[in-house]
Amino acid sequence: MRRNRSSIWRTAWTPAAASATAVCLMAIIGCPPAPPTGNENDNGGDSGLTGKFVGAARCAECHSGIHDDWAETLHAEALDTLEAIGQGSNAVCLPCHTVGFGEEGGFVDRATTNALAGVQCENCHGPGRDHVENVNDESLRPPISIAASVCGACHTGEHHPNFEQWETSGHASVTDTPAEEFAEGLALNNCGTCHSGDFRYLALIRGETVPDDYLLGVAHEDMNAVTCAICHDPHARTGNAPLTEDGRDYQLRYPEVANPTPSNTVEDTTNPERFNLCGQCHHDRGRTWQTNSRPPHHSNQANVYVGEMPIPEDTDLLVFSRVSVHASAPEQCATCHMYRQDFESEEAPAISGHDFQVNTAGCANSGCHASQAEAEARLVTLQTEIQGRLDDILTRLGDPTTWEYVANGGPPEEEQAAISNEIKQVRFLYYYALNDGSLGMHNPDYVRDMLEKADEILTDLGL
Ligand code: HEC
Ligand code: HEC
Ligand code: HEC
Ligand code: HEC
Ligand code: HEC
Ligand code: HEC
Ligand code: HEC
Ligand code: HEC
Repeated sequence: MRRNRSSIWRTAWTPAAASATAVCLMAIIGCPPAPPTGNENDNGGDSGLTGKFVGAARCAECHSGIHDDWAETLHAEALDTLEAIGQGSNAVCLPCHTVGFGEEGGFVDRATTNALAGVQCENCHGPGRDHVENVNDESLRPPISIAASVCGACHTGEHHPNFEQWETSGHASVTDTPAEEFAEGLALNNCGTCHSGDFRYLALIRGETVPDDYLLGVAHEDMNAVTCAICHDPHARTGNAPLTEDGRDYQLRYPEVANPTPSNTVEDTTNPERFNLCGQCHHDRGRTWQTNSRPPHHSNQANVYVGEMPIPEDTDLLVFSRVSVHASAPEQCATCHMYRQDFESEEAPAISGHDFQVNTAGCANSGCHASQAEAEARLVTLQTEIQGRLDDILTRLGDPTTWEYVANGGPPEEEQAAISNEIKQVRFLYYYALNDGSLGMHNPDYVRDMLEKADEILTDLGL
């Protein structure tokens, strides 16, 4: 259980205190002690605050917005957390719960370096004294890095293996094909929105214009993919997680749960603003059954989940929209893909959910299914059914060189016109169901409707 997180220092850190610090920094010398960052029981002082670390209160003078947001996060209270369980001076714990413990100029104790209590700016940006004393010198500005290793310095080990588990996921590296193009200076503004953390950070989070050749010559392993800071706001509580307890927030950048009304226009199916956190990237890219080049991209999970499919303007629906039976899973995608469990023992290790692999323990833990075994059994039955129906369609379509997309070895673009609309609809339905990757799990009945429609068309064609 967590302690009650009400904290006095939020009120102690008043605008008056802020401006006193500001005036002092103008003169650079002889600052009064920084405002307290500890809990109500400490009598912290800062006589030892003479090294390379200066503490978040100093940053607040100029970066007050970020500071005020950060002050509300659990990072700011990380030493209080240790103290609440009597571990406030355990040297094993302090490196991850304070600034610079064990390093020169870092946290020692509340009595001498209170301003360095908790996880602060300088844990992620490095020591700030040189910058604070020379704000105009660009070469001394603290680095900003969205690399997962920044967070992984602490979010690691048997109690919270977020970093290790994330590293095993597809999110940890940029998919090969786009990575090669980025390194050649191509396609960044197109594919980078979902495949490049570097692009996403600059273009979407900072709102900058990023040239396509921004990653020209960068080695594949030095590119950031979907790193921690792409999903998490490093500075602020956001209120985007529906199920938190004990003062937690998770600092998610986008809502974990969203329930858009199904829509079948290309404009809507490709619009990330309609979807939840995962749907920012796991949404369709707008190909319809009239597209000849490629099948729908492997990213249509949020659309299938919502029960929608892009269709060409002024054409009839291939299947009616149908909201998923799984739409009300309490944390939506995370319910199945991010099951979490605390560390109990070597035999029952912590599960951070950050490998994003489906764990059927989540199906039972969420209260939706009677047991993990029951959920597992239903999953196998469903996937077997859907795989069987997909295989059947493929068999009936026959020789792929007659009906496939250009990129999949079908007829070249100029000969695609010879393929009938009916066959184009069937191949689209087939790939829309297949490339979702869940074999029906995201929206069982909607996928059944798709395969039924494909079956009907093939039957009408005598295939
Ligand atoms: C006296 C004012 C002042 C103080 C104190 C100060 N900064 Fe800055 N900081 C600036 C200015 C000015 C810039 C450059 C303009 C900008 O990018 O906002 C800057 C830039 C930065 C940047 C780079 C921003 C970017 O977009 O490239 C970071 C990171 C940063 N500061 C962190 C800190 C941290 C951490 C502290 C406390 C250890 C701190 N600053 C204290 C004034 C200050
Ligand atoms: C390797 C860095 C690291 C070390 C060393 C470390 N912690 Fe933590 N601690 C963390 C991180 C990261 C979290 C946040 C976990 C989360 O929210 O997933 C945390 C959270 C906690 C929490 C809040 C409850 C929880 O698990 O979320 C407690 C209590 C805690 N640590 C106690 C300790 C104690 C006691 C020690 C020393 C015996 C210690 N920690 C050592 C990184 C560390
Ligand atoms: C948990 C790690 C972490 C902490 C703590 C943290 N930052 Fe950051 N900061 C980042 C990352 C990652 C980015 C880039 C992503 C972003 O902008 O959201 C960033 C971006 C920035 C930027 C540039 C973008 C902007 O919003 O202006 C500034 C300035 C900055 N941080 C200052 C601070 C200050 C000041 C503090 C302490 C009050 C702080 N940071 C605490 C990780 C952190
Ligand atoms: C210096 C160690 C350290 C670093 C670096 C660090 N964290 Fe943490 N983080 C912690 C600790 C310790 C806690 C637990 C604080 C507590 O509960 O008292 C925590 C808690 C969290 C939480 C839980 C917040 C909540 O409301 O439940 C999130 C999310 C988080 N960190 C994300 C990040 C991200 C993203 C980064 C990198 C941008 C990062 N952290 C960098 C140590 C660190
Ligand atoms: C910033 C874009 C982005 C966001 C946000 C995102 N993903 Fe992904 N995801 C990707 C990309 C790109 C891949 C493909 C990686 C590859 O194939 O190399 C991927 C792959 C996956 C995979 C395939 C398995 C694997 O490890 O390769 C799963 C499952 C997954 N994501 C689930 C999720 C879930 C659940 C969320 C929300 C918690 C989420 N994703 C959020 C971009 C994103
Ligand atoms: C709307 C977000 C988004 C955009 C834009 C995007 N992708 Fe993807 N892409 C994804 C997601 C999400 C996955 C992973 C799905 C999974 O693992 O099931 C993926 C998977 C892939 C894969 C692996 C699966 C496969 O098809 O073999 C490749 C290759 C790929 N994308 C290439 C590209 C290229 C090249 C571009 C630009 C022309 C691009 N993507 C644009 C989201 C996107
Ligand atoms: C694709 C999006 C995504 C990425 C990438 C991601 N997270 Fe998370 N993270 C989430 C979501 C969603 C939750 C909330 C899960 C829930 O509701 O149970 C979460 C929860 C957390 C929590 C709080 C719960 C816990 O595990 O204690 C921490 C801490 C955290 N993430 C740290 C990290 C770190 C560190 C990284 C990088 C190594 C990272 N995350 C990468 C989406 C992401
Ligand atoms: C009810 C549980 C459930 C929910 C909710 C759910 N998924 Fe899945 N997802 C699955 C299952 C089961 C699979 C198939 C995994 C397998 O067979 O290994 C899967 C497969 C995937 C894949 C393909 C994995 C791969 O290896 O290529 C991606 C990507 C994915 N889901 C993303 C999402 C996203 C994004 C959401 C939310 C919009 C979501 N899922 C919601 C259960 C779920």
